[in-house]
Amino acid sequence: MVCASFDPNSSFSEGPAEPDVDAGTRQTRRILLLGALATTACLGCSTHARADDPPGSDERPQKGDLLVFSEGDKEGKLITAADLTAGGPPVHAWPKDPNTAVVRSASRLNEILIIKLDPAELDEKTRARAVDGIIAYSAICSHAGCPVTAWVKSDVGDKEVLKCMCHNSEYDPRAGAQVVFGPAPRRLAALPLALADGSLSVAGNFIGKVGAAQPG
Ligand code: FES
Repeated sequence: MVCASFDPNSSFSEGPAEPDVDAGTRQTRRILLLGALATTACLGCSTHARADDPPGSDERPQKGDLLVFSEGDKEGKLITAADLTAGGPPVHAWPKDPNTAVVRSASRLNEILIIKLDPAELDEKTRARAVDGIIAYSAICSHAGCPVTAWVKSDVGDKEVLKCMCHNSEYDPRAGAQVVFGPAPRRLAALPLALADGSLSVAGNFIGKVGAAQPG
C-alpha cells in the first residue's frame, strides 16, 4: 500500500506576499498544512479487510508467522536471513500464517520493515528482540500513518535511519526505532523475531502501538 508523499521542502503556493508574517510563521503554516494533507491521504488508505479477503488476512502478526516479501521481484516469497544485506536497506514484508498460508496483507498496518545490522550497534533492548542483528519494525509512521519508505543518512547524525518522507520523521533502528528527528510522537512498533533453518519468523506480538491515530 502506498500513500501520497509530501515533501515539505517543495515549493508550495501560499498566495500573495505577507510582509507582516515572518518566515517562522510561514514555515509553521506550511508544516501544519502538509501534515493535514498527509493525514487525510493516509487515513484514506484502507486498513480493513474486504469481504473477499481470506480469514486472518487482516489479523496482526502472530507468534510463529513466517515473513514474505511484500513488494518487488520476490513478492510473496519467504524471507530468509540470506536475503538481507548487512547494514541495510530494509526489506518490506508481510506476515504469513504457516498453517493456512494466508498472507496477512489485508491491513496496511501489518507491513513490516526487516533490517540486518551489526549486533554490536544495537542497544540492549533492541538486541534482545533481534536474531543475528536482524530486527523488525512496523512500516507505518506514528505521526500521520504514512509508510516509512526511506533508508537514508540522518539529518541529525552520521548514521542511516528509517525515514518517513511525508514530514521527514526519522527513526533509529539501533535504539528501538526511537524518533531522532521530525514530528513523529513515538517510536515505531517493534516485532520480535526468531530464526530457524535460515528462515525468519515472528516471535511475539508487536511491542508498542502500530501506526498513527487511525482505525486498524
Ligand atoms: S506521516 Fe508525518 S512524518 Fe510520517
